[in-house]
Amino acid sequence: MKETLNQNPDKWIMDYFHKKFREHLHAVNEFMIKNLESSVKEVNEVFQWVADGGGKMLRPILVIAVAEALGSVNQRTITGAALVEIVHIASLLHDDVIDNGLLRRGKPALHRIWGNTIAILTGDSLLSKGIRLAVTHKEWDFLNYLSIAVEQITEGEIMEQSCVASKNAIPEVSTERYIEIVKKKTAVLLATATVIGALSTNTITDTYHLNKLWNYGINLGIAFQISDDMIDLLPHQLTHKSSYSDLKSGIPSFPIVVALKYPHIKEKLIRLITGNDYEGAVRLLNSPEIISEYTKHIVSFIEEANANLSDGFPAPLIETSRMLGEWILSRYPIKI
Ligand code: FPP
Ligand code: MG
Repeated sequence: MKETLNQNPDKWIMDYFHKKFREHLHAVNEFMIKNLESSVKEVNEVFQWVADGGGKMLRPILVIAVAEALGSVNQRTITGAALVEIVHIASLLHDDVIDNGLLRRGKPALHRIWGNTIAILTGDSLLSKGIRLAVTHKEWDFLNYLSIAVEQITEGEIMEQSCVASKNAIPEVSTERYIEIVKKKTAVLLATATVIGALSTNTITDTYHLNKLWNYGINLGIAFQISDDMIDLLPHQLTHKSSYSDLKSGIPSFPIVVALKYPHIKEKLIRLITGNDYEGAVRLLNSPEIISEYTKHIVSFIEEANANLSDGFPAPLIETSRMLGEWILSRYPIKI
């Protein structure tokens, strides 16, 4: 096994895009801070805490990258990027309560500071402010896509939760079912970001090309979630979120779902998890079978994503998608 376990797997790409889109991302943050302000002191305190969070901003980057490649970034692009990020943050606040995620973006998850009730209500409040902002700006197309996204995300989350294993057991989920879940819970929001980026420029309005962009985002999003599931196996110092959280919570994550296909690995995994030996389970899940399935799946979803851009999309978008694909594949640093 080759390992380069010394750097946050997202650092190089984030450095690149955060530098390239510095002004636009700054505008997205400013827009969020300004528009999320509340007259209620308590709400502001929590929002300020959320605003200081320092996430990757992957979804705003996608909105901006698509808009820049298709035309130019304008105020609608910034509004769209902020709306997508607001929905994303709301979903994470709820997710950390559900998963009992302890660390988020390198800091204690919000529910650990303020409690579950405030964390859930903050998510609700963010979501409602996002809806109101879209209405205020008369962004009906954005609202249409975002409402589909919220519906799909929650359905995906319900599907996932209904598969969660009881304590010290492993979830029994097929790869097909897993893909269906991650498509809803993660990929739909990335597809929404891609389409909103395009809509903000008014350069693409035909269903054929919007569908191509949607499918691009879906396939990219599935690949992204697979890589995110793999980095649950890395130490938290690298990922800035709780490690082994999926394993401990019995969530059907990619390495576990794939392990179920190999009887010899499945049998050992059950033994290790029953004995609370998560370090042992992680070593086992780094087996060549699972790492090569990881590579095979990521390559296939990235190729499928990029194929959608082969028909009439500009070169800068194809270049951005090539970089995003390369990044997702490289996120898990342990190679065979
Ligand atoms: C992160 O996944 C979480 C999601 C992709 C979606 C969570 C959605 C909900 C809790 C439903 C509520 C939705 C809204 C819009 C309020 P993960 O747990 O695999 O990743 P992680 O390791 O970053 O926690
Ligand atoms: Mg989680």
